[in-house]
Amino acid sequence: MASMGLIGQITTSVVEFPAARPRRSCGFSRNRVGFRVFAQADTEPDLSVTVNGLNMPNPFVIGSGPPGTNYTVMKRAFDEGWGAVIAKTVSLDAAKVVNVTPRYAKLRAGANGSARGQIIGWENIELISDRPLETMLKEFKQLKEEYPDRILIASIMEEYNKAAWEELIDRVEQTGIDAIEINFSCPHGMPERKMGAAVGQDCALLEEVCGWINAKATVPVWAKMTPNITDITQPARVSLLTGCEGVAAINTIMSVMGINLDTLRPEPCVEGYSTPGGYSSKAVHPIALAKVMSIARMMKNEFGDKDYSLSAIGGVETGGDAAEFILLGANTVQVCTGVMMHGYGLVKQLCSELKDFMRKHNFSSIEDFRGASLGYFTTHMDLVRRQQEAIRERKAIKKGLQSDKDWTGDGFVKETESMVSN
Ligand SMILES: Cc1cc2nc3c(=O)[nH]c(=O)nc-3n(C[C@H](O)[C@H](O)[C@H](O)COP(=O)(O)O)c2cc1C
Repeated sequence: MASMGLIGQITTSVVEFPAARPRRSCGFSRNRVGFRVFAQADTEPDLSVTVNGLNMPNPFVIGSGPPGTNYTVMKRAFDEGWGAVIAKTVSLDAAKVVNVTPRYAKLRAGANGSARGQIIGWENIELISDRPLETMLKEFKQLKEEYPDRILIASIMEEYNKAAWEELIDRVEQTGIDAIEINFSCPHGMPERKMGAAVGQDCALLEEVCGWINAKATVPVWAKMTPNITDITQPARVSLLTGCEGVAAINTIMSVMGINLDTLRPEPCVEGYSTPGGYSSKAVHPIALAKVMSIARMMKNEFGDKDYSLSAIGGVETGGDAAEFILLGANTVQVCTGVMMHGYGLVKQLCSELKDFMRKHNFSSIEDFRGASLGYFTTHMDLVRRQQEAIRERKAIKKGLQSDKDWTGDGFVKETESMVSN
């Protein structure tokens, strides 16, 4: 049950964390690269992570979508070894959710979208879960009974109505789920009902709704961000300031997959018509990296000493894709379309490739390298300054030494080279 006393404690828009909500260690790694020399080369890298107090065997999380639609597939995800599962988004009244078919469209690499080319982009116009809430809740409960040590996260979304959000949070928490991800980011269908991205794109609305949610929730809350906004750090900041323990990014990117040049109709085509959808898969990975980088920098600069978490999503299909997100500061990495294309067994490949990467660099844990690349982003002006300085240094060395007193111990070989004629 929710902590009723919390509501009385709110004096500003910033909500205090209820004592019952576990806080997890999510500060950016401070020991990472400098300590890697101590790692034993023959020790198996440790993929386990603790995020907002939740223990996961690895950082790979099933992202909300078809791979978390029902008991059977979520059980499969646990059996295959996924670190955590985020279920398909639920709302109070599934009867209002009406899907259409076809609702997916693929973009393939190769000439003229060759049918044999590799899938690089995926568009969907799928809504949130159309299964009755009662059914989903029963399945969450059964999963938690059968897998008490595994992390199950409910993804929720509601209309702009405080009582509705409170009821939904109360009901999902009663199933024993470990955390809640709030879908502030569904790009299609739901904005018409002031849901999903309609909230995530409006910081005033977001602040109010996050306030309701965090006053009610007693488990950690992650706010899932839409990339369909100019500055993604703004809603991420509001979510953390209003009490969320974590941020997840990104949801799909608003897209039109294409126009059929025979029929002249847009795809995916439903009775001759279409609607803009959400883009995912490999093609969105560089965009997701940029969004995650911005959020990670904001979190480090503004919330650095606090225990907030970052869950990165977008186009992950390899351990290397995941390593990139972790190098930017992500605590966990979600995969949705990758599972739809390669199946649940993908997690084994992801773990093995991430371990290979860690062995190569002698990293023994995820914290050893989390955030290690974040400090290497700077402004264009600073790049120009650095380059001019480097050119000046190279020219100075090329000129050779002016006097024997200029020889140094460290640069001795380069100094010798600088005076060789060929
Ligand atoms: C078919 C499909 C359905 C999705 N449904 C949801 C959803 O119900 N809730 C949600 O938060 N995200 C949903 N997503 C977004 C994914 O969780 C993820 O944020 C996005 O697809 C980018 O990651 P990916 O490239 O690994 O798929 C869906 C994505 C796809 C492809």
